[in-house]
Amino acid sequence: MTVFEGKVAIVTGASSGIGRATAELLAERGATVVCAARREGEIAALAEEIASAGGNASFIRTDVADAGDVEAMVAHAVQTHGRLDIAVNNAGIGAEVYQIIDTPDDWWDRVQNVNLRGNFLCLKHQARAMLAAGNGGAIVNVGSVNSFLGCPGAAAYCVSKAGQIALTSSASAELASQGIRVNLVCPGVTDTPLHHEIKSNLGTEAFEGMKAQTHQRRFGDPLEIARAIAFLCSDEASFVTGTSLTADGGFHLTL
Ligand SMILES: NC(=O)c1ccc[n+]([C@@H]2O[C@H](COP(=O)([O-])OP(=O)(O)OC[C@H]3O[C@@H](n4cnc5c(N)ncnc54)[C@H](OP(=O)(O)O)[C@@H]3O)[C@@H](O)[C@H]2O)c1
Repeated sequence: MTVFEGKVAIVTGASSGIGRATAELLAERGATVVCAARREGEIAALAEEIASAGGNASFIRTDVADAGDVEAMVAHAVQTHGRLDIAVNNAGIGAEVYQIIDTPDDWWDRVQNVNLRGNFLCLKHQARAMLAAGNGGAIVNVGSVNSFLGCPGAAAYCVSKAGQIALTSSASAELASQGIRVNLVCPGVTDTPLHHEIKSNLGTEAFEGMKAQTHQRRFGDPLEIARAIAFLCSDEASFVTGTSLTADGGFHLTL
């Protein structure tokens, strides 16, 4: 399938988990992919892996909480590959577990800075580049089932993820008339390094409870989330904008 032939995509958080699977899938489907994250060795290896599978990719070390890095990431896509059509704002943190009364202030700030302000910075610079080129585009932010659901021990994470709903719908309202769609994918519990870190912080019993709460009685695979993201990036979703798509095996529907 080469639905993204001729398109240039940025994927943040491409060094691991859902971001890595998304970068691989978009490249497999014909996109030129800019792999962005802080761990340069991981994204360099990913870009090489994509190239040896016959795809096109480059990488740029990016901290999404740093405005200068984000601006440079978008400039890299446009200067190196000539355009920007697709952006997947997936970078995120949230493995530490604290009750509100014990939450360190700097953890709260870090989570908002990476998950919400980082998403804002990416969206801002990506939309500027897309508007300047006048070719439209598709931006997919990655939220969580915790965009809708509060969770004990995870207030900072839930607030950052809830904020992405408003960011996504506001951006959609501003950009849709210029051919740019902005959507949010909300994964349920998905088997990634973040998931394993949460498991060790939360304890196996509580973690397994989340599997029981999922209609499909299993955790997601990163590729299953990547497929939902790819759908929203594609022209198949031409009339879908401003929305939140849960890819969670039914998790958020359980009472
Ligand atoms: N796994 C789940 O169960 C689950 C469920 C719901 C939502 N999500 C969301 O899905 C997204 C991906 O998570 P994942 O599960 O794939 O986790 P992961 O395997 O830990 O990957 C997180 C990615 O984010 C990057 N990242 C973290 N801080 C960054 C920063 N400041 N600047 C740039 N990149 C940064 C990491 O790269 P570097 O460390 O190299 O920078 C890494 O590539 C996150 O937004 C997460 O909240 C995950």
